[in-house]
Amino acid sequence: MALHLPAVALDQPRSPGRLRSSTTLVRAVAALAVSMPVAGAVAQPPEPSNLIDQQHCMFCHTSDAPFLAPSFHQIAERYRDTPNASTMLEEKLRHGGKAHWGDMSMPLPDDRGGPLSAEDARTLVQWVLSQ
Ligand code: HEC
Repeated sequence: MALHLPAVALDQPRSPGRLRSSTTLVRAVAALAVSMPVAGAVAQPPEPSNLIDQQHCMFCHTSDAPFLAPSFHQIAERYRDTPNASTMLEEKLRHGGKAHWGDMSMPLPDDRGGPLSAEDARTLVQWVLSQ
C-alpha cells in the first residue's frame, strides 16, 4: 500500500482577505475615479499620470465629482482668479497646511506614496488648475 501524503496542499496561498481590506476600499475608490468620463475639451496640459498614480491623488479626488475630497474642477474653479494660487497649492501639496474645504486636510506626501519635489508639485498643480 502507498502512503497517502496530503500535506502538499498547505503550500497553497492563503486567502488574502484579512490583509487586503483597506486596499480593497482604496481600489474601489480608484476604480470609480477612473470610470468617470473626462469632461470638457479645454486645452489641457498632458495628464501627469505617473505622478498621479505614485501619489494616489485619485484615491480621494475625481476630476468632476466631489467625493472624499473636492473635485479637481471645484479646485480649479475656486482658484481661477486668485493670484499666486499655484504657489500656495504647491507649498500645500508638499508641506501641508490648513484645510480650505472642510475639516479634513490632505495627507502629506510621505503618507501618499513618497516625497514630492517642487517641480513635480508644480506639474500636478498646473494640471489640477487646468481642469
Ligand atoms: C487621502 C485623500 C487625498 C489624497 C490621496 C489627495 N488629496 Fe488632495 N485633498 C484631499 C482633501 C480632504 C482636500 C481638502 C483639504 C482642504 O480642505 O484644504 C484636498 C485638497 C486638495 C487641493 C486644494 C487645496 C486647497 O488648499 O484648496 C488640491 C490642489 C489637491 N488636493 C490636490 C491633490 C493632488 C494633486 C493629489 C495627488 C498628489 C492629492 N490631492 C491627493 C484629500 C486627498
